[in-house]
Amino acid sequence: MKSETINTLTPIHLSKSFEGDTLAHFFFQTDKKTAALHSETPTEIQDLAKSGTFTGAAKSVFFIRGSYIDQINLLIAGLGTKKDFTPEKARLTGAMVANRVSSEKVKSFGINIDGILKGSNKATAESILPAFLEGFYLSQYAFDKYKSQKNGNQKLESLHLVSEDRKNEAWLKKVIHDALITIDCIFLTRNFSNEPSNYGTPEFYANEISKLCKTYGLKCKVMGEAEARKEKMELFLCVGAGSERESKVVIMEYTPKTGAKSAKHVSLVGKGVTFDSGGISLKPGMRMEDMKHDMTGAATMVGATLMAARLGSKNKITTILVFAENMPSGTATQPGNIIRARNGKTVEIINTDAEGRLVLGDALDLAHDYKPDVIVNTATLTGASSVALGKLAKTVLKSTESTEEALWQLPLWDEYFEDIKSQYADMMNSANDSNGGTIRGAIFLKQFIRPGMKWAHVDLANRAYDQGYLPYNPRKGSSGVYVRTFAHFAMNY
Ligand code: BES
Ligand code: MG
Ligand code: ZN
Repeated sequence: MKSETINTLTPIHLSKSFEGDTLAHFFFQTDKKTAALHSETPTEIQDLAKSGTFTGAAKSVFFIRGSYIDQINLLIAGLGTKKDFTPEKARLTGAMVANRVSSEKVKSFGINIDGILKGSNKATAESILPAFLEGFYLSQYAFDKYKSQKNGNQKLESLHLVSEDRKNEAWLKKVIHDALITIDCIFLTRNFSNEPSNYGTPEFYANEISKLCKTYGLKCKVMGEAEARKEKMELFLCVGAGSERESKVVIMEYTPKTGAKSAKHVSLVGKGVTFDSGGISLKPGMRMEDMKHDMTGAATMVGATLMAARLGSKNKITTILVFAENMPSGTATQPGNIIRARNGKTVEIINTDAEGRLVLGDALDLAHDYKPDVIVNTATLTGASSVALGKLAKTVLKSTESTEEALWQLPLWDEYFEDIKSQYADMMNSANDSNGGTIRGAIFLKQFIRPGMKWAHVDLANRAYDQGYLPYNPRKGSSGVYVRTFAHFAMNY
């Protein structure tokens, strides 16, 4: 991203021959020791294969240091068997290779593209490189803008995609272009999500998103509290009532240049609570610092919208982001308060810590006004779980088949609404026991979906940060999960 990327990416070059210090070869696993080899395979690799040390097993990475000053180092990585191959294997391999390249202090790294393309059928071969590049770069992310000592001084200087075949050039250029956009958008989501709340205020995000929209040719509208009040978004406004920082609604509009008749209109909606203290229903102190991530739903939808737009989505996209800070104070919303939502329904606030559904309720209602074919929202809504819900769940789950970001579905029977019926208003924002919290959050949101509208809700609370079990994610902080899934959904719906 021109304005806000902290991490500058190592530049990628295309070349016919390799003159850097380390060259990588990739192999699938076969049952025969030497089957992974082809005629041009360097002898060092042949030896490792013949001895059975290197089998091509998934996630195996070997580094062979050249024995003479002018001799290049070799890196070999296994992709597992062809039968079990999915791009996620290449993504994981990419992350492991990047970590090895970094620990071996490699300066200029090449990848033998011809070897990859020779290795399998066309579709499989062509799916390796994009995923590999994603894993490679995503693993190198660091949120170090507030650290005096950056650890970037021994960085890889250049990455070379080495192919003798000129015919690959156009394809390689497109792969690089698309992968760098994907990575950039995920970094943007991570940067937004990791920003501490004293800097990452509703106003900060509104300004940053406006700038990004200008850069990439999207329309952007920002509403402050006075305008939100005119829109009757009291449910949204009650969340920021205790905060000194003004709440903001941000609407991004992407219109495809090619106005195809078949184009659909997708609306993406994200929760942007910049800090969730719980409000008057104050949270306990333990791990409260993580609540700076409570705007990850909005950050994810910004990343996904820009990714789809920059990849040239043929579908129209309207993205609604609701930013507010949930704080206790003399003006904060109190338990027992009754608030009238934009759609006219009344809500009894039982717990001011169930605030995500309040900002989203009004945002979902507003989304209908843009007349989309479909609405998808995401939020760090409940500590309990991660879910995709609503009639649209199958389509969203389908998007995850190609992006391979794990997501699963919970039921959403109308009976669940019984749990949040209120004595004094049309509904409560929480029940007085802690059963089925994730589903109750979703059934609450459903009250803001008008008849006939297709809708899905993804609760990403448990996958938004600290997902280091995947090597392309940072150990601590935002993962950027589902940016690819929502972009894919928006483009392909
Ligand atoms: N932002 C939290 C959900 C959350 C918790 C996200 C932990 C990430 C990690 C949300 O606003 C919240 O407080 N939810 C409550 C709802 C309850 C009061 C009905 C929860 O899940 O406990
Ligand atoms: Mg809360
Ligand atoms: Zn919250």
